[in-house]
Amino acid sequence: MRPIIIAANWKMNTTPSDAGPLAAAIAAATDAPDVVRVICPPYVCLAPVREALAGTGVAVGAQNVHVMAAGAFTGEIGAAMLAGLADWCIVGHSERRRDQHETDELVGRKLARCLESGLRPIWCVGEQLDEREAGRAEAVVREQVREALTAGGLADGAWSSSIVIAYEPVWAIGTGRTARGSDAAAMAGAIRAALEENGWSHAQAETVPILYGGSVTSASIGEFLAEPAIDGALVGGASLKPDEMAGIVARAATTAAARRAAAG
Ligand code: PGA
Repeated sequence: MRPIIIAANWKMNTTPSDAGPLAAAIAAATDAPDVVRVICPPYVCLAPVREALAGTGVAVGAQNVHVMAAGAFTGEIGAAMLAGLADWCIVGHSERRRDQHETDELVGRKLARCLESGLRPIWCVGEQLDEREAGRAEAVVREQVREALTAGGLADGAWSSSIVIAYEPVWAIGTGRTARGSDAAAMAGAIRAALEENGWSHAQAETVPILYGGSVTSASIGEFLAEPAIDGALVGGASLKPDEMAGIVARAATTAAARRAAAG
């Protein structure tokens, strides 16, 4: 049975002084042992958030990591620096693909860097609006999977149990426009098929959690979790609001209980 995961992507919001109290408020509002909860604040807030979340069961993630281990890369953060601060790391978010020109090749190498450093990557894939309208959404995402697995040397599936994938249609991020649950489920199926086509076993592809991301709120989360292929959400804007997170995680806890009951 795959875990249900709700991950908060705070993006470039919060400060070292307000991030800890916000994280604590979210942890208190989302107490649900069956849901894996992760908060990904900006780098400078990792330490206060880690401290605020100690003992709550909520994990901490970074939003990015540099592809190289260390060296002359001014302003960058390497995976080893995150030891003791973060256990998870978002990789390949569409805002970084857009603004920092991250390619699937780079994303794949970053996935490998995370994994060998003990960070669990939340690997983001997803199509642009014009690609969806042209009927190419599945083809685009399958290619993203193929390129990153190849570049990261991850085609043997050896790291499959440490990876989480977030399907985030780019046109749904921060726009208030969500995909339909059925579309997200179809895309999750395409992603799992692509993992298998590129070397993962069927069992490995079936056990990797796939989250939906893009304008998720407490009102829309149910549509996605109603799909057996979807295992949670990567939440942006709504993740800064404890009340919204409370609603999202409560719905996730209901799903987790139902799936556990169904699995016997
Ligand atoms: P959003 O962001 O929920 O604000 O659309 C999601 C994401 O970027 O991961």
